[in-house]
Amino acid sequence: MKIGLLGLGTVGTGVLHLINQNGKNIEKKIGEKIEIKKILVKDPDKKRAPLADGKIIFNPDDILEDEEIDVVVEVMGKEHPALEYMIKAIKKGKNVVTANKEIIAAYGKELIKLAMENNVSILYEASVGGGIPIIRPLKQCLAANKIHEIKGILNGTTNYILTEMKEKGLDFEEALKDARQKGYAESDPTDDVDGFDAARKLAILCTLAFNKYILPEKIYTKGIRSVSKSDIKYAEELGYNIRLIACAKVDEEDRLEAWVHPVMIRKGNPLNGVNGVFNAILVDGNAVGEVMFYGQGAGMMPTASAVVADIMDVKNNIVIKNGYEDANIVSFEDTVSKYYI
Ligand code: NDP
Ligand code: HSE
Repeated sequence: MKIGLLGLGTVGTGVLHLINQNGKNIEKKIGEKIEIKKILVKDPDKKRAPLADGKIIFNPDDILEDEEIDVVVEVMGKEHPALEYMIKAIKKGKNVVTANKEIIAAYGKELIKLAMENNVSILYEASVGGGIPIIRPLKQCLAANKIHEIKGILNGTTNYILTEMKEKGLDFEEALKDARQKGYAESDPTDDVDGFDAARKLAILCTLAFNKYILPEKIYTKGIRSVSKSDIKYAEELGYNIRLIACAKVDEEDRLEAWVHPVMIRKGNPLNGVNGVFNAILVDGNAVGEVMFYGQGAGMMPTASAVVADIMDVKNNIVIKNGYEDANIVSFEDTVSKYYI
């Protein structure tokens, strides 16, 4: 199986390492070797992992026009030109694996329609929760349920910042710098800090859980910029942790309520003890009850774990209904946004 990798930053490098490290086992499982044939990057002067030697290219068409490449793995980030590359890959009959929540949240419906018309797969497990399995569980394992509510911590960077501010007394800027160095933050960390990344992930989950396709800009969103060290200290004295929570639920009339904002979480609540880069997602279904998904929500190897599993599923040819193809578009009038604190 020949792969064209778009991007060799935190996630792309993780994918390269993971395929190198676990390649033999992966080959046994899917009956074929995965080969990263070419890697698209932007900056010709950057130092690259030795594993990338001889594979680096700067012209996207070297991948998109290569007939031998069956799977394009998009880990460049941002909307453009990643979206155009994904569209071209699909039209050329290539399967696409992506970690890009910005694109799936905004263009998921159109992209998945295009993929179905071209008889290829588009898989995006890494787009929500980093290494935590959540896309497939919603589409498969929990599919028999009517989901009432999804809530949790969907952004690793902000959770890391809030944890470091509390435990090490770091300032917001210092903690953010640290999160960026560790590869957790988006290329524009405003997306993390102001809650947009969590809102995009929540929008994706709303489509899969409630069959409601909502654009992230319709979700009430407030980030952690205004949370100070003294807020964190006073909350602690009262027995609370401050966490950036994303929540979506449907009422009896099937109206959607969705929001992202900082919340004081009481000790004893499972979300209270979620620290550092970890994420946790609570899903409430009418048959299963409450289920919690927990793990590293960002970072090189956890995210690579989800991306490489998607590559393997392309080969396994697992046909999973995508969840987007028949989702109902939510108009602004159908949305109830509330602000609790
Ligand atoms: P990075 O910024 O670390 O890496 C981006 C890579 O894409 C770089 O190699 C860069 O090239 C390349 N690139 C960017 N723009 C272009 C372009 N126009 N043409 C060619 N190459 C380009 O990003 P991450 O690895 O952190 O994230 C990638 C994606 O994965 C994003 O969508 C992100 O939201 C998502 N994601 C990230 C997670 C994480 O923990 N970091 C977790 C889950 C999802 P160059 O090296 O030359 O600069
Ligand atoms: N910047 C994102 C986060 C990466 O911190 O959660 C994982 O999607």
